[in-house]
Formats: sequence, C-alpha cells, structure tokens
Amino acid sequence: MAFNKENTILLSYRHSFHAGNFADVIKHIVQVEILEHLLKKDKPFEYIDTHAGAGLFSVKSDDMQKLQEYNNGIGKLDSNNFPEISRYFEAIQAYNDTKNLEFYPGSPAIAKHFLRSHDRAWMYELHPQDFKHLSNNIAQSRKIKVVQDDGLKGLNGLVPTPSRRALILIDPSYEIKTEYELVIDSVIKAYGKFSTGVYAIWYPVVERNTINMMERKLKNSGITNIQQFELGIATDSSGRGMTSSGMFVINPPWTLKDKMSSLLPKLAQTLAGNPELFKCNILVEE
Ligand SMILES: C[S@@+](CC[C@H](N)C(=O)[O-])C[C@H]1O[C@@H](n2cnc3c(N)ncnc32)[C@H](O)[C@@H]1O
Repeated sequence: MAFNKENTILLSYRHSFHAGNFADVIKHIVQVEILEHLLKKDKPFEYIDTHAGAGLFSVKSDDMQKLQEYNNGIGKLDSNNFPEISRYFEAIQAYNDTKNLEFYPGSPAIAKHFLRSHDRAWMYELHPQDFKHLSNNIAQSRKIKVVQDDGLKGLNGLVPTPSRRALILIDPSYEIKTEYELVIDSVIKAYGKFSTGVYAIWYPVVERNTINMMERKLKNSGITNIQQFELGIATDSSGRGMTSSGMFVINPPWTLKDKMSSLLPKLAQTLAGNPELFKCNILVEE
C-alpha cells in the first residue's frame, strides 16, 4: 500500500496474482451455492459485488503465471470427484472452450453466468486498472452496472434492494488493517436497513486474533442467522501469510451448512492433504 501527494491510498493488491487459489475456491463455491438458491424462485434478485476485481483472469497471463497459486487451488480439483459442486465447474467451463483451464472467472463473471434477464447486479471496483479490465470483461448493460467507486459506500446506498432478495458479496483485499472492522461495521449498517439480504463476507486468516475480533463483533451485533465456513492449507501461524480463508454468511440458504459440512473435509484433503483443516460453524442461531 502507498499514498499519493493528496495522501489518498493507492491500492497495490491485484487479484490477478492470486486468481483460482484455495481462497477463491471456497469463496466462489459459496457464491455459487447462494446464487443457485436464489435462482430456485422465478422472482428476480439483486447481486452486489462490493470488491469486484478484474472479473475474469487469463491463466497464461504473466500475473497468474508469476505465483501460480491456482495450482494449489482450482488446479488440484477434478470435477469428476466433486459432482456436488457441478455448477461451480459449469461456471468455469462457460469461460473455457476446452477442458483446459485457460480462464478463471472472478466473482463478477461467475455471477454474470447465472443472472437471468430480470435479475440485476452492481459491481464495484476502485483500482483504475482493474476497473478497466472489469469494464472490458463484464459489459455494462441494463442488467449489470459496473462502478468505479468504494463498494462499501455503494452498498449503503443500494439497500434495501428493489426485490428484497439479494446476494451481497464482500471480498476486500484487507490491505489496510482497519478494513476488518470497517467491513463488519458496514455490514451491520446495511443489515439495519435490509435484514433479509444474504451477506457473504470473505476473510483471510493471516492473524487468528483479527478473525476472532470479527467473530466477536458479529456475535455482539444483534444480527441473527450467521454461519462460518473456513478452509485451510496449513495450521494457524503468525507471520507466514494466509494459512486459511473463510466466509461469514448471514441469512444462508437452509441447505448450505449440510452441503459444506460434507464438502469441506473433502476439499481440505484434496488441497492440503489434511481433512481436518476446515471450519463449519453456526456463529449465531436463527
Ligand atoms: C480480493 S479482490 C476481489 C476479487 C473478486 N471478488 C473475485 O472473486 O474475483 C479485492 C478487490 O477490491 C478492490 N478494492 C479495494 N478496496 C476497494 C473499495 N473500497 N471499493 C471497491 N473495490 C475495492 C481491489 O482493487 C481488488 O481488486
């Protein structure tokens, strides 16, 4: 992170270096599960992506090739072994002509694959370069608005959404330490105006204490019906980067917990060789 002359923050995180990694896998599986649930009714819904990123990532790009994190994520998954998440693989396949992974869809491309003509989406991206990529990858339309602005402020202006059915995906880069608290405060504020939305908040486990703080804040917020899903590739450690990542889901589909409780040990075994590196909890009861 850096600051320019006006002392505003210049974002340095670029998701293109990390696309398709183990953190994207759990995030996008949960995203697809929630979208599938919303699609079960004919009634329209809204999708809000507060931190959209570039939308779609080329596996051959220098960025993805530099760290090759996808090799420890999507690259390790064989769709034949995971029929229960066939719609996640379907979304990926929709952006690839062959069985070879040439493109990995980010959350905006995944959402776009599932949205119907009467659903609506807002996708926020602050970084000028990634916003340009997002606009090229996800064409703006009557259905989809692509916005270069702060997604958490945008969220506050959009809720409650017109149909009162929505998935709000909050996937920050947490470049600034205060973002962990800011995210929870923003969700509490949005929930105060729109308590029936499904909120999916991604978090990285770099320092476990920070995640414990997020959990405490959520538990004390008065928000009900919160679940937590986490997938790791190593046990907690301090100073060794991201060892696990997870999602807090407010108002989850009623099927999500059962699905994740059988899926997560299988994913942990496949990605980390340890079927115990996961969490599947009810944080706050309904
Ligand atoms: C983890 S990435 C998003 C990845 C994306 N959701 C996906 O699944 O493909 C986070 C993105 O948020 C952007 N960002 C950071 N702060 C933001 C803010 N306040 N509002 C909107 N976008 C922001 C960053 O530039 C970065 O592209």
